[in-house]
Amino acid sequence: MKKVRIGVLGGHRGTTMIEYCKKADNAEVVAICDKLPETLEAHRQKSEGMNIALYDNFDDFIQHDMDAVVLANYANEHAPFAIKAMKLGKHVFSEVLPVQTMKEAVELIEAVEETGKIYAYGENYCYMAAPYEMKRLYAEGKIGEFEYGEGEYIHNCEPIWPKITYGERNHWRNTMYSTFYCTHSIGPIIHITGLRPVSVTGFESTMNERMLRVGGQKGQFGIEMITLENGGIIKSIHGDLYRDSVWYCVYGSKGRMECAREDAEAGHTHQIYVNCDEFSGQYREKHIESYRPVREPDDRDFGHGGSDFYSMYNFVEKIRGNGQADIIDVYEAMDMFLPGMFAYRSILKGGIPMEIPNLRERAVREQWRDDTACTDPKVAGDMLLPTCASGTPDIDDGVYEVVKEKWEKMKVDGKIHFVASKAGV
Ligand SMILES: NC(=O)c1ccc[n+]([C@@H]2O[C@H](COP(=O)([O-])OP(=O)(O)OC[C@H]3O[C@@H](n4cnc5c(N)ncnc54)[C@H](O)[C@@H]3O)[C@@H](O)[C@H]2O)c1
Repeated sequence: MKKVRIGVLGGHRGTTMIEYCKKADNAEVVAICDKLPETLEAHRQKSEGMNIALYDNFDDFIQHDMDAVVLANYANEHAPFAIKAMKLGKHVFSEVLPVQTMKEAVELIEAVEETGKIYAYGENYCYMAAPYEMKRLYAEGKIGEFEYGEGEYIHNCEPIWPKITYGERNHWRNTMYSTFYCTHSIGPIIHITGLRPVSVTGFESTMNERMLRVGGQKGQFGIEMITLENGGIIKSIHGDLYRDSVWYCVYGSKGRMECAREDAEAGHTHQIYVNCDEFSGQYREKHIESYRPVREPDDRDFGHGGSDFYSMYNFVEKIRGNGQADIIDVYEAMDMFLPGMFAYRSILKGGIPMEIPNLRERAVREQWRDDTACTDPKVAGDMLLPTCASGTPDIDDGVYEVVKEKWEKMKVDGKIHFVASKAGV
């Protein structure tokens, strides 16, 4: 079968997907788009001798003859590009997050339904080895019915802030709210259980010096306490606490499964621990299985514990008609994202629980079609939200100038490079 022809918007994080396409036997990269000249130039040098067109704007890029696009542009600007791309006949792989307003959520879902194009949400953490094995075991009934789960995505980005915000006051990483970047912690639990979230209560930390001194305008971390349709509860935490953590744990009616913590040096998200009974009430004294799950194809040489490989592999295979391909569709993307959005509404209302709308139902969509509430002044109109509950902090221009100077120096020192990172953010 012919390779799927892919174009990539956003040449920073998008490098990972470009590398996937260059190595894969099921896809090829045919076009790259980035508005930054130095990013395009880096990709020109790395692609010499390959037939890859370079664009500096989306409108020309999207006219290129290709089957699918990867959207690795700003995290709060994916939906409008996804909708345009699908309406022009392209399948879409969207980086996190899927939308930034309820209006966009409604429009994105309807664009998928109207065009019939494949939309895959790139929540790569779902495909890390241990959480992915948890999904397989959960489907087998290994731990019984879901009762409680925890997801953690802690990344102290202060040291790399110049490299990821370039000193731009209005960069999305500076203007997002505490519970916006929520799908790395919530997503895997949703993908494991397949259960829909129905309500959420949000919490945010106060602002602290580490964020303020680099120009971040959100509370340091956010928490979502989410109730699922079966009554089970998820605790999700994400943000910039001092020490990093990616960790998942799921309790069911017959036991528990979890991965290793990074600091434990016991295999991290590659290692799974399962402690369960054969039936509820058996109470065996101790029955722990611990192993490193393997999958076919087995490719760990990609970023984020190999998960960057599987999210792209499944997207491409879905386009090729592979019935085994496991993508995160637009409805599941909303199940991962809306808890963060409504957790923030909960925070702004003093911590009351909020119902999470089920946008699978057309009638429900009508209530949200004009809701532009978000922290991005470009799209919020008169529904602009503050970046934290105590109000958007007033940060001096000098803070952004210092970050910009550091970024410029990193460029001169060659400390930025457009290669697929194994750690990533
Ligand atoms: N899944 C993960 O593990 C992971 C890791 C890192 C980043 N991300 C996601 O990847 C995306 C990109 O993040 P990033 O770290 O590369 O930083 P970024 O958001 O600063 O970079 C976006 C890139 O897209 C380009 N761009 C933005 N708008 C454009 C437009 N309209 N036309 C042309 N080019 C445009 C920018 O010049 C920049 O190079 C974000 O959505 C982020 O959430 C995901």
